[in-house]
Amino acid sequence: MEIKFPTIRLLFSVMNVLLLLVIVAEVSDSQTHNSGFPQVVPNRQQFFQSEPITISCEGLNGRTGWRVMKKINGEVRTCASTWETSTGPCKIFNAYPSTDSGEYWCEMGGIQKSNTVNITVTDLESHVILEVPAHPVMQGENVTLHCRKKDANSNYTAKFYKNGISIGSSSSGNIMIPTVSKSDEGLYKCSIADAGESPESWLTVGTGHPTVPYLEIYLGLGIGLGVLLLVILLILAGLFQHHKHQQTIRSHTEDTSLTPSAQNSPVSI
Ligand SMILES: *[C@@H]1O[C@H](CO)[C@@H](O)[C@H](O)[C@H]1NC(C)=O
Ligand SMILES: *[C@@H]1O[C@H](CO)[C@@H](O)[C@H](O)[C@H]1NC(C)=O
Ligand SMILES: *[C@@H]1O[C@H](CO)[C@@H](O)[C@H](O)[C@H]1NC(C)=O
Repeated sequence: MEIKFPTIRLLFSVMNVLLLLVIVAEVSDSQTHNSGFPQVVPNRQQFFQSEPITISCEGLNGRTGWRVMKKINGEVRTCASTWETSTGPCKIFNAYPSTDSGEYWCEMGGIQKSNTVNITVTDLESHVILEVPAHPVMQGENVTLHCRKKDANSNYTAKFYKNGISIGSSSSGNIMIPTVSKSDEGLYKCSIADAGESPESWLTVGTGHPTVPYLEIYLGLGIGLGVLLLVILLILAGLFQHHKHQQTIRSHTEDTSLTPSAQNSPVSI
């Protein structure tokens, strides 16, 4: 018994240190990256038909094994044409409205999911898009939204709207939102006279806190606690065996050497 207690204490310490290391690693890892969004190149949510788009999971928690997934018209599948190639970047060479407009995210092992980016591809009749970043913009940054006119060869005046309300117009086609804060989040669109209106896209303002990786911490904690419980059970089982073994020895000794007195005093414990 004197040997066992330090062993148990040591085991607990090792478990605690391991658990802490897991948590610290996860938190620091998640904070060094742009918390959990797929990367879209070029970095915007709206595209004209036939433009190229690349979506990848680079930089997500610094791990490999992420897959680019998409949901188009309610149907979920890998962004790449086959499951085998879906861990690499998903290259769309000619964006097409009905097959490429939808939600995109990264997924690993079916449990871990990144945040979702909505991509809108306009049809041939549309001549205006608003370039809203696909990634969240960080609090305090200046953000420029560009209202783009298809095949424009002269300057044009664009009007900008947030949540359907006009927020101004600009003869350069750009609007700058200085030092963004959470209150600048919303649905943005723009319009150009004689050319039409862009689709709406959501501008996300990030605060730098990790979002997705908390799942990993809980998962790590769960596994850690599970292992801890198993170790405790094993130790208890070991103690029980040890106890039973000693009892057997004792009753054996009593059987052989103390036969007369053993009859008066039954085996205790
Ligand atoms: C944002 O723009 C203002 C001018 O409007 C400039 O003074 C400031 O340095 C810019 N901030 C950043 C982070 O670029
Ligand atoms: C467009 O605007 C830029 C400045 O914003 C100016 O330098 C340029 O001359 C303009 N081009 C035309 C065709 O008006
Ligand atoms: C993306 O699109 C879906 C479906 O239209 C919508 O429910 C969701 O709120 C959108 N998300 C963002 C961030 O715009």
